[in-house]
Amino acid sequence: MRIDRYLANAGVGTRREVHRYIMDKRVMVNGNTIKSISLNINPIIDRVSFDEEPVIYKEFRYFLINKPVGYMSSTIEERYPPVTSLIPQADVFRLFPVGRLDVDTTGTLLLTNNGKLAHSLLNPRFHVEKVYDAVVDRPLSTKLIDDFQKGLNINDEYVTSPAGLEIIDDYHARVSIHEGKYHQIKRMFIACGYNVISLNRSQFAFLDCTGLKEGEYRELNPEEVNKLLLFLR
Ligand code: URA
Repeated sequence: MRIDRYLANAGVGTRREVHRYIMDKRVMVNGNTIKSISLNINPIIDRVSFDEEPVIYKEFRYFLINKPVGYMSSTIEERYPPVTSLIPQADVFRLFPVGRLDVDTTGTLLLTNNGKLAHSLLNPRFHVEKVYDAVVDRPLSTKLIDDFQKGLNINDEYVTSPAGLEIIDDYHARVSIHEGKYHQIKRMFIACGYNVISLNRSQFAFLDCTGLKEGEYRELNPEEVNKLLLFLR
């Protein structure tokens, strides 16, 4: 692996920054200062240091954010800033969100640079559970529990898979789904004659945002990463 990629993946800096660090003779491989940004190293065997501190290499990174309203879960800047702009390391690690939350949806969002895992987590065949707390515009009827369980035709002839709905109080419901169609929760409620006023994803697989205020993020711990990797197919 090229040293510049290795250092960027390890979080030392962007590719451009690590090129500068190499030019400035701040990087050593096996005790020798290096001068080439294209030097190939073996991440398992070679010892790399930056400013005389050993570099700990991780190819993949996993972050959890409590997404606030007003951010897009897309890496392309459009009308709203991308959620990645809230995580300073996002560029260096090339993080992208696993799935989408609408700009007005808050809550649990995983970001990673592990494309294979993201693909597995988003594949409806693997039944990753997502739980949403919805506030609706009129009192909820218990009939919805059945309707959500049976599946709903959400506009484009797509019938949703069985979903769990728990009525918390007149206007609050908790919905559990295992797929992720565009605006799925809002469209399921619309199919039953309700509008969603606000939506928060409280859980994605086993992950939730306990301890994170809106806009706050953290890197997953090794135990969580191992649990997440069980979804890899
Ligand atoms: N369903 C929605 O309607 N919006 C989201 O952001 C996520 C699920």
